[in-house]
Amino acid sequence: MKRITINEAKHHVGETVEIGAWVANKRSSGKIAFLQLRDGSAYFQGVVVKSEVGDDMFQLAKGLNQETSILVRGVIQEDSRSKFGYEMTVTDVEVVGESQDYPITPKEHGTEFLMDHRHLWLRSSKQHAIMQIRNEIILATYVFFNDNGFIKIDPPILTANAAEDTTELFHTEYFDQDAFLSQSGQLYMEAAAMAFGKVFSFGPTFRAEKSKTRRHLIEFWMIEPEMAFMDQDQSLEVQEQYVAFLVQRVLDNCEHALHVLDRDVDLLKKYTELPFPRISYDDAVVLLKENGFEDIEWGDDFGSPHETFIASSFDKPVFILNYPKAIKPFYMKPHPDRDDVVLCADMIAPEGYGEIIGGSEREVDFDKLQEAIKKFGLAEEDYSWYLDLRKYGTVPHSGFGLGLERAVTWICGTEHIRESIPFPRLLNRIYP
Ligand code: 4AD
Repeated sequence: MKRITINEAKHHVGETVEIGAWVANKRSSGKIAFLQLRDGSAYFQGVVVKSEVGDDMFQLAKGLNQETSILVRGVIQEDSRSKFGYEMTVTDVEVVGESQDYPITPKEHGTEFLMDHRHLWLRSSKQHAIMQIRNEIILATYVFFNDNGFIKIDPPILTANAAEDTTELFHTEYFDQDAFLSQSGQLYMEAAAMAFGKVFSFGPTFRAEKSKTRRHLIEFWMIEPEMAFMDQDQSLEVQEQYVAFLVQRVLDNCEHALHVLDRDVDLLKKYTELPFPRISYDDAVVLLKENGFEDIEWGDDFGSPHETFIASSFDKPVFILNYPKAIKPFYMKPHPDRDDVVLCADMIAPEGYGEIIGGSEREVDFDKLQEAIKKFGLAEEDYSWYLDLRKYGTVPHSGFGLGLERAVTWICGTEHIRESIPFPRLLNRIYP
């Protein structure tokens, strides 16, 4: 008998097949049992009719507990009443693994309880939909950058120097040396761009941030493109094309998952229209002041209420350009016309999802970069290889980082970033 997955059912109408599945739910009457089955590829219904399978098989099917694993055999039928469109008329059920007192039931559970049972919570339909969209975004990322002439380069995870804020580094030992877990691959990607032109990385990053918000993870995945001979304006074009492409791919390939998440698809469609609006940091401060944020002063970094307000003034993701130099990392190139701001931008997602991209044009002048390193209190010897890039054929270059989980959370329209990664690492949580 042919073994298929649930999502292949449409190709096997009228055939007798076998499926390996788990019982997600069930209901039954005296004569008929409906098994809600899932196998990781999709959900569908198995219908067990007492008069057809006999009393023993019917009692077995009726008594199956939630999350029991089974091999189920039967005939695939079209089922116009369900959204999925197909079901199985079951002829035989074989139990593979019993399940008893499964802790996650269809009723409501508290967040902490669900987080403690993340290894099981992942089986639920909402989590399944989110992981499918995450997977689509990952695939789309590889397609986008490969189609646009980028090559994937993997920066190291164990590093000797900080790329972003030195207070957020995870410290570890590297034999008899100090080392840190990477908080960004950027500096290595700059070296790679000088070797390969257009590069991107996609890997885990670590930030020992003491932030307990719905946007912060301690371990998250970042996509970091870096482009030689490209200025900040050209980089912004790549960023908006990339993000619109991600949204389009999810719209094209994840219709069912978006339906499960009850995501407003018309809103998502809007996010595929280019260009995305741009507002300068200066104008954003004025906008905030005019709208009741009296506490904000030029030079302050924006917090989440500020970002949410700015984003709500536009109907697409918005770039905030040219932040004050003092609140940005050492490697950013100052604006050519004024030294107090840098050539950078954050892309803020609509609907209150906050910053999804941070990027900039990089300082390319050896002396200015050396001075910036000193000014930021960093040890020059740690960055001598990075300074070398400015000694041997330095060129204008720009890059950015997109936080995968921020993008997944926004595109899925879910409340909290913790559901956008299989096993979230949060402040005070490293289990399971
Ligand atoms: O703005 P960030 O810190 O930029 C960099 O790391 C640059 N070196 C990137 C580059 O130019 N190559 O982080 C980039 C993005 C943010 O916009 C956000 O989406 C995500 O990474 N991010 C986080 N996501 C989840 N949890 C956190 N704690 C995050 N911190 C940053």
